[in-house]
This record gives sequence, C-alpha cells and structure tokens, in this order.
Amino acid sequence: MGVLRDACAKLFGRSKFFTPADPAFKGFPPVLRPIDSFYSRRLYFRYRDVWNRPIASAPGSEMDVCLREQVPGTTRLKTTGKLKRCINLGSYNYLGMSGETWEATCKEPVMAALTSMGSCGGGASMLQGGMTSLHKEVEAAVAAFVGKEDAVVFNMGYGTNATTIPSLLGKGSLIVSDSLNHTSIVNGARASGAMVRVYAHNDVDDLDQVLRQAVADGQPRTHLPWTHIMVMTEGIFSMEGEICKLPGVVAACKRYKAYLYVDEAHSIGALGKHGRGVCEQTGVDPKDVDILMGTFTKSFGAMGGYIAASRALCDYLRSSSSGCILSTSMSPVVCAQILASLRVITGQDGTSLGQEKLDAIKRNANYVRNRLIDMGCEVLGDEDSPVVPVMLYIPTKISMFSRMCLDRGLAVVVVGFPAVPLNAARTRICISAGHTREQLDRALVALEEVVDILKLRYRRSVFG
Ligand SMILES: Cc1ncc(COP(=O)(O)O)c(C=O)c1O
Repeated sequence: MGVLRDACAKLFGRSKFFTPADPAFKGFPPVLRPIDSFYSRRLYFRYRDVWNRPIASAPGSEMDVCLREQVPGTTRLKTTGKLKRCINLGSYNYLGMSGETWEATCKEPVMAALTSMGSCGGGASMLQGGMTSLHKEVEAAVAAFVGKEDAVVFNMGYGTNATTIPSLLGKGSLIVSDSLNHTSIVNGARASGAMVRVYAHNDVDDLDQVLRQAVADGQPRTHLPWTHIMVMTEGIFSMEGEICKLPGVVAACKRYKAYLYVDEAHSIGALGKHGRGVCEQTGVDPKDVDILMGTFTKSFGAMGGYIAASRALCDYLRSSSSGCILSTSMSPVVCAQILASLRVITGQDGTSLGQEKLDAIKRNANYVRNRLIDMGCEVLGDEDSPVVPVMLYIPTKISMFSRMCLDRGLAVVVVGFPAVPLNAARTRICISAGHTREQLDRALVALEEVVDILKLRYRRSVFG
C-alpha cells in the first residue's frame, strides 16, 4: 500500500507527507530520498501518537501523561493541556528511586549538592577540571559495589559504550558480540575499527564455535593472531528481558583467552540478592569479568554510566577515552543522587529499605510475568527479570494496544521496527519495586481486557 501511495503521490504531485523542495537547494540531490523515509512516512506517522508522549510528573509507580491531538490537515501532534494519571509500566525505575521514596531518601543530598556545587560541576571534562569530590566518591562506591578494583564515571550511558570500546580496541582486534546487543555497543564496536563477529543470541555453544574459529584462523589474509579478542554481552537484554548465561560465557572466554565485557545497564541494582547485578545472580566471581559496564539511568534514578575494571584499565580510560577527556563531566547533582541510591541499596543508610526494594522488584516482576503467561500471552524473558516483554507481533496492534492502555489508565512502552524486526512488535512492561500489589492487579485487569480485544493470547492453542 505504501509503495502504491508513493507512486500516486509522485504521479499527482500531492501528498501530505512530501514537503516541496526548498528552492534554495535547487539542483542539489535531495537530503532524503523517498525510500529513505519510507518507514517514517508510511508506518510511523500513522501511529506516532504512541511514541514521544510527554509526561508531566516524576516517573514513579504512577505518572501524569500529557494528552495530545492531531493538528488538522497535518501529521503533527499538539498537547491539549490535559493530563491523564496512569499506572507507569514503561519506566526503568526498577527500584522506585525516582518515584515515591525519592523525597525521603535522595532529596536532601541532591539539594545539598545543588546548593554547594551548582548544577554543572566544573563545567569541563573529567580530565580538565570537571572532576569534583562527589565524582571521586561515586567512582569508589561503584567499584566497591560491583566488586572491582576501580571505576570511571561517564555523563551518559550510551556514550559509555560508544566511547570506551573505541579507546580499548582497534585494528587487529576482534569483538565477538551477542547478536542482540544494544546499539551503543554496536556503534562503539563499529567506531573502534576492530573486526566484529556476531554469535547467536545468548547461545554459549555458538559463542564457543565463533571463538574457536577466530583463534584458529587469526586475522584475515595475514593469519596473524588477533591483538585482543573481546566478548561483549549484556546482563539483561533490554528488548527480550532475558538474563545472560554468564557462567557459560565466562568459561568460553577462559578457554580461548578472550576478554569479557558485560553491559549491566538493566541488571545492576535489579538482579542478585543484594542488587549487585548479573554476577551475583548467576554466581560468577566479578573478577572473571574483565570489564563491567553499567548505567545509572535505571535502578539509581539518575543519569550516566560507568566502567568498573582494574585500576590500570580505569586510569588508561581516564586519559584516553573521549567520554572522559572531551565530554563535560556528569552534574554533581546526579552524583549525589547516585550516592544516595547506593546508600539505600547497600543498607548504609541504616534502614532495610534497600533490601525491601530488592525483594519487591523480584516479587512484582515474577507476579506480573506469571499472570501474563497464565493469560496465554507470549511473554519473553526470564524469572526475576524486571523487563517483561509481551509479543504483539503485528505492527497495527502496536497503536491499538498503546491507545487502549492509555484509555484504561496505563502508560506502556511499545516497540516496533526498526528497534525489532517488522513482524516482532512487542510491548515492554517494566516493573518497579515501587508498584503496589493493588496497582499491579488494577493494571492486569486492564491488560486482560486489551489482550482479549486484540487477541493476544498467542500461547493458547487455537482449539481452546
Ligand atoms: C543495554 C544498554 N546499554 C546502554 C544503554 C544506554 O544507556 P542510557 O540510556 O543511560 O544512555 C541502554 C539504554 O537503555 C541499554 O539498554
């Protein structure tokens, strides 16, 4: 249909999706050829209201969603000024640190940092005056928490991967990457200039084969040994909710003398009895993982990322990674939020709130996961994972699912192409320790109604 509509638009010279060429650029090749924007024009613009929905409150277990409407005759949306209070099933607020308990646990140190240090720290990179005492404290606290010798903090989680990987690896090195790794890893790997080989998602046998072949063959043409081989994977895969099979990955890395880099964006603070991440969850010694990367945007209710590794490696990154030397450092206000969250998680605040939150996140996630499975939905991921993706498969169900949920007071995240294949659309329900059982039950009643209307019980046999 899209191709047909494009052909008609070309024939009759009229379409609300085409803007007339700017006469100032007459004779230039078009910036966007029709095929480049095909997906945006023919699919995304039809259901764009389900994405980019502004919110007007803290992303706690509930939040205010701004309602929007289409500007007549265009594909643009404008906010109506009306708000809808919704149960929040979309934020990565795994421990509820940016929600209801923020006032009691984080507000005081955060406000104190704002008053004493201002909002933008040294206003310079970590190397050149942007490092405050709070940054040093965060680095020491993170290293101790994850069980590594040292840690470096970055002002952005995405940038942590995108700038660390190129400073560690280059021509002559090999990256062996899980096929479903996050784009920040993919882009960091591409920017590094290292050769990249992909292994089947979370498949330890395939990883073993790829490593064996790589070691046997060496570099292309010359067959010289690789300067480094580094395996890259994630603690929890963000679109699948699956936990990495870390013990098998560690064993394969040891067998072939490959370094191991694990992105714990979604697992740190959410997995393991004490929230120390995928190593604690799977019984792996953190010493067996060379580089533990993580972000503060999920369980810590903050911003930024970290690399935890040996002191020598962290010192090297401080003087070589563009994220440390060319990018302005993290705000001290954010550092204070991270430190306050860590104090709660580790119990250093003198309360049992952290442990209660860690128990609640698993209890809540498993409750919702099991109820959705009982409903007959196709639920991806593992027990204990706070990411609970439910398959919608068909792109048109994306818009209907999200709109029907909003009507029923649920704020959900839906995922479509290009983040996942065109026919593998899904909703990604993110559970928080801040959700009460009453909120989860209310959400499940509403979800069941939507599941019925959209016929999402894909696990049920067609015979009943
Ligand atoms: C696995 C993974 N790594 C890195 C990032 C980037 O982190 P941030 O959003 O903090 O920039 C994300 C984002 O969600 C992620 O899922």
